[in-house]
Amino acid sequence: MATRARPPLVLLLCLCLASCLSSAIGGVSATGNGYRTTAFLVDEEGRRLRAELAAVAGAGGGSTAAYGDDVQRLDVYASLETDSRLHVRIADADGPRWEVPQDVIPRPSPEFFLQTSRPGRPVLSTATSDLTFAIHASSPFRFAVSRRSTGDVLFDTSPNLVFKDRYLELTSSLPPPGRASLYGLGEQTKRTFRLQRNDTFTLWNSDIAAGNVDLNLYGSHPFYMDVRSGGGAAHGVLLLNSNGMDVIYGGSYVTYKVIGGVLDFYFFAGPSPLAVVDQYTQLIGRPAPMPYWSFGFHQCRWGYKNVSDLEGVVAGYAKARIPLDVMWTDIDYMDAFKDFTLDPANFPADRLRPFVDRLHRNGQKYVVIIDPGISVNATYGTFIRAIKEDIFLKWNGSNYLGVVWPGNVSFPDFLNPRAAEFWAREIAAFRRTLPVDGLWIDMNEISNFVDPPPLNALDDPPYRIDNSGVRRPINNRTVPASAVHYGGVAEYDAHNLFGFLEARATHDALLRDTGRRPFVLSRSTFVGSGRYTAHWTGDNFATWDDLRYSINTMLSFGLFGIPMIGADICGFGGNTTEELCSRWIQLGAFYPFSRDHSAIGTVRRELYLWESVARSARKALGLRYRLLPYLYTLMYEAHTTGAPIARPLFFSYPGDVETYGIDRQFLLGRGVLVSPVLEPGATTVTAYFPAGRWFSLYDFSLAVATKTGKRVTLPAPADTVNVHVAGGNILPLQQPALTSSRVRQSVVHLLVALAEDGTATGDLFLDDGESPEMVGARSRWSQIKFSGATESGGSVVRVRSHVVHDSYAPSRTMVIAKVVLMGLRSPAPPKGFAVYANGVQVNASTAVDGGGGGNPEKGALGVAHVGGLSLVVGQEFDLKVVMTY
Ligand SMILES: *[C@@H]1O[C@H](CO)[C@@H](O)[C@H](O)[C@H]1NC(C)=O
Ligand SMILES: *[C@@H]1O[C@H](CO)[C@@H](O)[C@H](O)[C@H]1NC(C)=O
Ligand SMILES: *[C@@H]1O[C@H](CO)[C@@H](O)[C@H](O)[C@H]1NC(C)=O
Ligand SMILES: *[C@@H]1O[C@H](CO)[C@@H](O)[C@H](O)[C@H]1NC(C)=O
Ligand SMILES: *[C@@H]1O[C@H](CO)[C@@H](O)[C@H](O)[C@H]1NC(C)=O
Ligand SMILES: *[C@@H]1O[C@H](CO)[C@@H](O)[C@H](O)[C@H]1NC(C)=O
Ligand SMILES: *[C@@H]1O[C@H](CO)[C@@H](O)[C@H](O)[C@H]1NC(C)=O
Ligand SMILES: *[C@@H]1O[C@H](CO)[C@@H](O)[C@H](O)[C@H]1NC(C)=O
Repeated sequence: MATRARPPLVLLLCLCLASCLSSAIGGVSATGNGYRTTAFLVDEEGRRLRAELAAVAGAGGGSTAAYGDDVQRLDVYASLETDSRLHVRIADADGPRWEVPQDVIPRPSPEFFLQTSRPGRPVLSTATSDLTFAIHASSPFRFAVSRRSTGDVLFDTSPNLVFKDRYLELTSSLPPPGRASLYGLGEQTKRTFRLQRNDTFTLWNSDIAAGNVDLNLYGSHPFYMDVRSGGGAAHGVLLLNSNGMDVIYGGSYVTYKVIGGVLDFYFFAGPSPLAVVDQYTQLIGRPAPMPYWSFGFHQCRWGYKNVSDLEGVVAGYAKARIPLDVMWTDIDYMDAFKDFTLDPANFPADRLRPFVDRLHRNGQKYVVIIDPGISVNATYGTFIRAIKEDIFLKWNGSNYLGVVWPGNVSFPDFLNPRAAEFWAREIAAFRRTLPVDGLWIDMNEISNFVDPPPLNALDDPPYRIDNSGVRRPINNRTVPASAVHYGGVAEYDAHNLFGFLEARATHDALLRDTGRRPFVLSRSTFVGSGRYTAHWTGDNFATWDDLRYSINTMLSFGLFGIPMIGADICGFGGNTTEELCSRWIQLGAFYPFSRDHSAIGTVRRELYLWESVARSARKALGLRYRLLPYLYTLMYEAHTTGAPIARPLFFSYPGDVETYGIDRQFLLGRGVLVSPVLEPGATTVTAYFPAGRWFSLYDFSLAVATKTGKRVTLPAPADTVNVHVAGGNILPLQQPALTSSRVRQSVVHLLVALAEDGTATGDLFLDDGESPEMVGARSRWSQIKFSGATESGGSVVRVRSHVVHDSYAPSRTMVIAKVVLMGLRSPAPPKGFAVYANGVQVNASTAVDGGGGGNPEKGALGVAHVGGLSLVVGQEFDLKVVMTY
């Protein structure tokens, strides 16, 4: 319960407007009678507003009458909290209601008293904010949010606002789909990344396999981004509410139907897509830094039989020369599925521990799964301690009893601070037996194998959200809504927070125990979970559709502030095929989180099992491992600005409406374009290239140059995924190796992809990869900016570095050994080269070609390989390459 009832407003102005029942918009059926504004106050700066609303008396409250009585008086708070963030909160004026707790999303309190106020219109607008807020003059109450610079209306509510104890409804009109493109809202597997007219998003965390489209899955993110054609200005809209809800995107409108809490909206001004995620993650929390090793490749399976089986898999990767950083184990390692135990027969400590020690000696890591359900077993220490601490979720006067893998279980109530303490102690004790490097928290929706019987009205609210696409009871396969958390909080309200709270407790426990940067992978997430955890898309199936849809979920989680995201490579459920697995690793090698995982009873799919898959893996993961410094620099960017690691094309090209519907390709960072094959039997891929030059990352040849953007069909042989870099980017690369720790020790190469104007820029972030903080008072890091430019009509290229920060000492021994210049003036080889570093001529080796192995069509622009360099990363340099033609 977050707020107290406010004393009534000093009424400065009374709007006693006639209530006018207005007809519903855009195919939405008429609902409540709405509210009228009875009073409002605006502060002098035009930044904050408070209004009082009263329910319009009417005949029966329209079609929502069955959902209960209207709350009679509402308070509206609207505030331009920053120049790019507007907060609009509509709550019960007469008493507190459930709200997302402040310690989940810390935020400025809406509880302000206006010290000064001004008469006039109920409008918020300042000279520095691009967002404006206005209450419509007509009655019933409606409000609109607009973009001041363009006059574009971003959100415009209909009069039929409904606010009951357990049913809230609000609709906003939107421009038709051609003019507004929406993204986000989830978690849901969707056929397209861009929302389609009539998509319904039910938000109620559920253990429903991700292989099902259009259903409520494991997490809840009531956030969308809206990109407007004709300029590409983007904004974001969050409804900060943890209750169950249906969000209906009707094309020309969006309707929220929520079964509790308050209507707590945040609007983020953008106007660039990157600015929207920056503003959004400023409110909900920046993504946690992930350890460097977690950007390596991960292998898992449910169904590994014993320690020799694990050893065989690790050896299989080594023998096939396929990179492997992290080995995982699913529930198989536990004794009768009890958390923090080891199966004494197949995974005994005296065999598993040496295995993990060997991984560590080889620079590899080990992660295991844990589930929230604690086996109810009088001889099980973890259970005994939980009972002693009294930390389980309660129901009908005792600990709630569910059924999961171990049989009867009770669930730690992570709203109880003692539960987090208990969890941390159990994790620390387990790590004494087995020093795991990260934890995978599964089944935390909470998944339950039985349907709890209803106990009270909370278990069967008057409005049934579209749970599982068939309006299943909200208790289906989870803990009862009538269960009671610490502080008397109903599961009904806190249900969607469980995964968030468990991730936070797990993250904090690992941090405390290891002193290093935690790695947590959570299936269930909520707004702000990115502060603590990575996410995978859950139980997909080994189908070509699931391969394709994984891009949509990955891009959505980038918007949700959880950039460390990937899908189970080769598919989790069902039997994969050689070709599917081969194409999947080609895509999955570029997921921010890259893990192969499969279900028990299905055919194995470790990448070395088929020679064709191994070839794809060596090629795609080889490129990923070379790109690790770039990926890790993107992690830094995500952590400091919220920028997704994997991004939709419109993030870099918001003015290009062609990019708005693209979800078969994506960008890593600003300018690395991945165009995977997503169909069986294909040997080509048709890819869209936005305006500019695009160079192959395999042979550096110019693949496409376009003034306006164009679709191009490219060869995509069985072992190859198309990956290109846009002109204008400088990428730091290292040398391929079988583990990320080896990559870290290798020399750096700079790929300089010159744009048509002869320039390029890039960044490099370095630290030890495992200190708790990436940037902070106690952390040591280095950040270097690179810039490239041509001079003298293109016959001189200069590449300079600027050391922005340099407290990570190894930057002074790490060297850039080679610079590759792409996009040189002419394919005709220069007659000579002279290379100067900081004004002194150096004996560099130079080679020039057109890229593409001399293919004249590909080699429309020259590529120069300037090798034999030893430019110290942590020292600023000015490299000058003079070509004589
Ligand atoms: C959207 O749903 C409405 C109402 O169910 C239906 O009439 C309409 O045909 C649907 N439109 C599309 C594009 O599916
Ligand atoms: C591990 O499991 C495999 C497959 O069931 C079995 O053949 C092998 O004997 C087991 N090894 C050990 C050491 O238990
Ligand atoms: C409790 O755990 C022990 C040890 O694993 C097991 O033998 C026993 O069957 C369990 N009891 C119940 C009720 O699950
Ligand atoms: C699980 O709990 C139920 C309900 O209390 C009980 O009837 C059943 O015997 C328990 N099962 C086990 C294996 O302990
Ligand atoms: C709740 O507990 C009471 C008292 O033990 C019991 O009579 C009742 O059956 C329980 N309700 C449910 C739904 O299990
Ligand atoms: C709950 O969901 C399961 C599938 O997970 C389904 O078989 C069952 O019928 C559902 N129960 C109810 C009461 O809808
Ligand atoms: C997958 O293959 C295994 C082994 O050939 C077989 O037992 C299983 O039935 C197959 N599963 C599916 C879903 O086809
Ligand atoms: C320059 O480099 C080449 C090739 O590495 C080497 O053969 C040559 O001796 C070097 N010249 C000088 C002056 O260092």
